[in-house]
Amino acid sequence: MNSGWSTPSPDSFKEGNVVHLWLLNYKKCQEKLNEILPVLSPEEKQRGDKFYFENDKNRYIITKGTLKKILSRMLNTETREIAFGYNEHGKPYLESAPNLYFNVSHSGNFGLIAITPISEIGVDVERFRHKMTREDIARRFFSKKEINDYLSLDIDQRLQGFFNCWTRKEAFIKAVGLGLSLPLNTFDVSLKPGANAEILAIRKPHDDPEKWTMKNVLIDNEYAAAFTLRAVNFETKYWRACSL
Ligand SMILES: CC(C)(COP(=O)(O)OP(=O)(O)OC[C@H]1O[C@@H](n2cnc3c(N)ncnc32)[C@H](O)[C@@H]1OP(=O)(O)O)[C@@H](O)C(=O)NCCC(=O)NCCS
Repeated sequence: MNSGWSTPSPDSFKEGNVVHLWLLNYKKCQEKLNEILPVLSPEEKQRGDKFYFENDKNRYIITKGTLKKILSRMLNTETREIAFGYNEHGKPYLESAPNLYFNVSHSGNFGLIAITPISEIGVDVERFRHKMTREDIARRFFSKKEINDYLSLDIDQRLQGFFNCWTRKEAFIKAVGLGLSLPLNTFDVSLKPGANAEILAIRKPHDDPEKWTMKNVLIDNEYAAAFTLRAVNFETKYWRACSL
């Protein structure tokens, strides 16, 4: 487990030129479930009840409730005032404060919430799936450059390299907010383990990758994660959400 995550402080709720990243460790957050549940609206509770597995339901409640708690403290308002709208591809935004951007992701035991007033943001976390047929999936979803970069990795780097690429691509499409209607071969990301996380090219619609920042997020040896936004020169703060 990466130790760079801090306990929340009053700083966690200040806007400024900052990306706030919140880590949800679902096993730890589980004990807060009863405290979090009342934060959900009747519609959100109904959506929670539709999950077949209890674990998925609890993850949903913890993520949505924690997001609402953080946003309400940032905006100095009640959690019941926090209402979400959705763009045509399903990306949620804050109805009362559309210029406070956020995005969430969950996989396995961890979730991430990214919040910033700087620009639209995308975040993604994935637990390694060791049995996945990675080469087939890479050929289907990665760009030509990414496939070549992936296949040129040493065998023992390929699991990490694959999920670096996957999470970075997801973070980018989530930042843009177009979902999978944005063709995955129209942009390239770096993937080599140990090298910087970067967007290398954005072909359609053409954009300058230098205007974007992509950051790797360290959580645990069995997970890859990244966030990205169209901005440079900002501060990133890392908070543990379950101690809220
Ligand atoms: C739906 C999608 C946005 C992410 O799905 P995912 O990786 O399965 O799920 P995550 O946990 O990372 O993210 C889910 C959250 O993203 C947010 N989201 C939904 N649609 C979104 C969109 N168009 N843009 C940004 N965020 C979106 C929501 O908050 C959602 O959580 P909620 O439903 O609890 O509110 C979309 O990118 C997708 O369908 N991906 C499929 C996977 C794939 O083929 N990836 C190829 C990568 S190489």
